[in-house]
Amino acid sequence: MRTSTDPLKNPKVKKEPSSASKLVKGLEGVVAAQTSLSDVDGENGRLFYRGIPIGELVEKSNFEEVTYHLWYAKLPNAEELATFKETLKAQRPLSERALAVLKLIPTTTHPMSALRTMCSLMGSLDPRAHIVNPEESQRKAYHLTGIFPTLVAGFYRLREGKEPIQPDMSLSHAANFLYMMTGKKPTPEMEKALDAYLILLADHGLNASTFAARVTTGTLSNLYSAVTSAVGTLAGELHGAANQYAMEMILEIGTPANAVPYVNKLLDEKKKVMGFGHRIYKTRDPRAEAFRQIAHNLCVQAGKMDWLEIAAHVEKVMMDRKKIPCNVDFFSAPVLYVLGFPPDFFTTVFAVSRVAGWSGHIIEQQLDNRLIRPLAEYIGPQEQYYIPREDRK
Ligand SMILES: CC(C)(COP(=O)(O)OP(=O)(O)OC[C@H]1O[C@@H](n2cnc3c(N)ncnc32)[C@H](O)[C@@H]1OP(=O)(O)O)[C@@H](O)C(=O)NCCC(=O)NCCS
Repeated sequence: MRTSTDPLKNPKVKKEPSSASKLVKGLEGVVAAQTSLSDVDGENGRLFYRGIPIGELVEKSNFEEVTYHLWYAKLPNAEELATFKETLKAQRPLSERALAVLKLIPTTTHPMSALRTMCSLMGSLDPRAHIVNPEESQRKAYHLTGIFPTLVAGFYRLREGKEPIQPDMSLSHAANFLYMMTGKKPTPEMEKALDAYLILLADHGLNASTFAARVTTGTLSNLYSAVTSAVGTLAGELHGAANQYAMEMILEIGTPANAVPYVNKLLDEKKKVMGFGHRIYKTRDPRAEAFRQIAHNLCVQAGKMDWLEIAAHVEKVMMDRKKIPCNVDFFSAPVLYVLGFPPDFFTTVFAVSRVAGWSGHIIEQQLDNRLIRPLAEYIGPQEQYYIPREDRK
């Protein structure tokens, strides 16, 4: 039985704070995990995957090899890479059951919501989903990484009123994704551009969606649940959806002459300009620099020089007025658009890439797990009493 000294009954008995830690809003600058996957050097605007600069990987590698490097902490030899590619490819086909569920999703659903639902479904269809250990997670990581393009392209085709296209096992991860979207085999330039996108977005330290994946993993929940948490987290406009809004902004600006007044108006109204700013990169986002060149080449080929001019004006206003450089989402937006992705599908392409990093982080978390459970500083009312229902106004 409780006595009058019971703190739950007598709120005048104040609890001592259980920690001297100070609130850090948005956990800015807080180190909450150790990783050996990617090194984000915000001060110098550089990014490395297990020590290798991303620029070198874009130039010399491909998404499959980079994923192997992230997961196995080494570059594969020829045989290892061939086996890795075959194992990923084997995950591409969609089962009849999964296709039936994909067809039930209303075509008005945002593609990220459709992907989140399908990612969760993959867990429901896996009889070993509940088994949690690094080996099982590795198997599930192959499954989700291999099948994500099929889920995205399948939903796109259905939304267009068309049947999904079966994967082509002779094509690379990037080329097959474009093929399943459009029904046409991409040119080598298009394949290379998407491959570069998939490499550049594959991992990025403890970004919000990766953090969500690690928090879910920390409870010993399985990889499907962790990746589903991550997809939901990536969907927000302060994270993954910025690429969609950046492209919509470029299209809405329409002509180079409209760019400066458009951005000035956004800033006067204290609104955010999508595709600019970063929590860690304050001087330059190295991924944005890589995309600038790719966007230039693709836009010139597609005869969309106007977009480059608009982008240059937007960048100038942001530098002059806010001293804020563009981030990865700004120049990657026209790249994805020229490749044929509608803007509301951009974030799903981001997920097709980032699932590699999420998976690596999930396994890293499992190998040295501790429940992630920070504190909240209570700022609500004190000394309240339960008022009987009949006495309430
Ligand atoms: C990415 C982002 C969330 C980082 O945010 P953060 O570290 O929390 O920084 P804040 O949002 O607190 O911004 C700090 C200041 O810069 C301004 N700022 C940051 N990004 C801005 C943007 N894109 N447009 C206009 N102003 C911006 C803020 O208004 C704020 O100004 P103030 O101090 O005068 O109020 C933020 O830059 C943003 O919202 N960018 C747009 C969305 C985007 O492109 N996201 C993709 C990230 S890869």
